[in-house]
Amino acid sequence: MANALIVLGAGKGSRMESDLPKVLHPIGGAPMLVHAMKAGATLDPERQIVVAGHQAGLVEAAAKDWDPDVQVVRQEQQLGTAHAVAQARPALNGFDGDAIVLYGDTPFIRPETLEAILAARATHDVVVLGFEAADPGRYGRLVAQGDVLERIVEFKDADEATRAVTLCNSGVVAADAATLFDLIEAVGNDNASGEYYLTDIVEIARARGLTAGVVRCDEAETLGVNSRAELVRAEALFQTHARAAALEDGAILTAPDTVMMAHDTALGRDCMVEAYVVFAPGVTVESGATIRAFSHLEDCHVSRGAVVGPYARLRPGTELAENAKVGNFVEIKKAVIGEGAKVNHLSYVGDATIGAQANIGAGSVTCNYDGFFKHHTTIGDGAFIGSSTMLVAPVTVGAGAMTGSGSVITTDVPEGALALGRAKQVNKPGLARRIMDKLRAAKAAKRKG
Ligand code: UD1
Ligand code: CA
Repeated sequence: MANALIVLGAGKGSRMESDLPKVLHPIGGAPMLVHAMKAGATLDPERQIVVAGHQAGLVEAAAKDWDPDVQVVRQEQQLGTAHAVAQARPALNGFDGDAIVLYGDTPFIRPETLEAILAARATHDVVVLGFEAADPGRYGRLVAQGDVLERIVEFKDADEATRAVTLCNSGVVAADAATLFDLIEAVGNDNASGEYYLTDIVEIARARGLTAGVVRCDEAETLGVNSRAELVRAEALFQTHARAAALEDGAILTAPDTVMMAHDTALGRDCMVEAYVVFAPGVTVESGATIRAFSHLEDCHVSRGAVVGPYARLRPGTELAENAKVGNFVEIKKAVIGEGAKVNHLSYVGDATIGAQANIGAGSVTCNYDGFFKHHTTIGDGAFIGSSTMLVAPVTVGAGAMTGSGSVITTDVPEGALALGRAKQVNKPGLARRIMDKLRAAKAAKRKG
């Protein structure tokens, strides 16, 4: 049966004490909201709706950046979770199937759990995801008999006996979309917060002769992030899982606890990652590549057999072909480094195409920016760029060409040519010694005086 996803992200998240809306705070380099959407996307939803409110423009941009097909609806006033879901109704016009509500501040729901919720819809009209909480704190409490759910009571509205219940509400709810909106219409706001609680639909459903059920999952999955401290805990949890998953998939992490993963880091079998490597979003490292210690990679692709670092920085748009080498204190941005090419020491290569087997000498720079525009540098196959060459883009060095060390290359170099763009060396016999003697004498005179 078709399903649709409704992700709630309109709340301010006051307890974060932040100007950024809560659901945009990142975990593994992606907004929490995106984690929730990613989990939901595994159900292959026919429609995805995000409810935005507080700083809606920012939330909308983040949602569309993740998936341009997402519909973003506005909840102008944050009157509660039921009111938030109601805002999705027009966007689901003509949709026939189940709606699944996820909370944007609950990033760790597993796809398997969402499948289980949809499966439970075969026996219940409304299905709620619950968990046994070690410390139930302020979570809503699920009053249930086995897997039959009677009602949900918000912490603020719960009496002592209900607060003693440890089965808690995750926020995830599934029901036939039309039924869900009908139930929500009947929700009022006569409660301790004066809000329209989504959780009230359970009692309303039962009063109408519908059934409600609970699916249980592990507490770690439903961790809700409401404060900075909880965000830090969530990040740590994410990292633990991401590292374990990488190891399970056959990557070698010599010191996993020091490696920072992003939500989409892809590490091939037998690729080796040394200590203190940071993966920002968008990185793929193919099988058998090596990322040495203290390197920082973002939005780039590293092919088989390539070696990066130690202390290298790969910025967005970097593509390392097979067996390419990028060594210490080298920065690469928006550049293709060809098969077996080497940029081993202290260089900057940006907006460039480096041919196969080319060698970029230590301290070389592609001077790509004139203060207004970026320009491209092209280095041919097998070219040899002497140490400390300044390549003033736009410029092309032909295949098999060489540049002399210290050259400033401002015009194209033909294939196979040697380019020398530097002042000619002059030697003045004995002059150094004479200058030093003079200075030594001057210093001695100053000390005495
Ligand atoms: C909610 C549940 C609670 C559950 C807990 C799990 C309700 C009434 N309570 O409480 O039972 O145990 O989550 O984490 O649902 N939001 C909107 N618009 C609004 C209000 C909230 O979009 O008007 C969004 C928020 O951005 C957030 C989510 O809904 O992503 C949950 O809201 P929040 O205020 O954090 O609910 P809790 O008090 O945590
Ligand atoms: Ca919450």
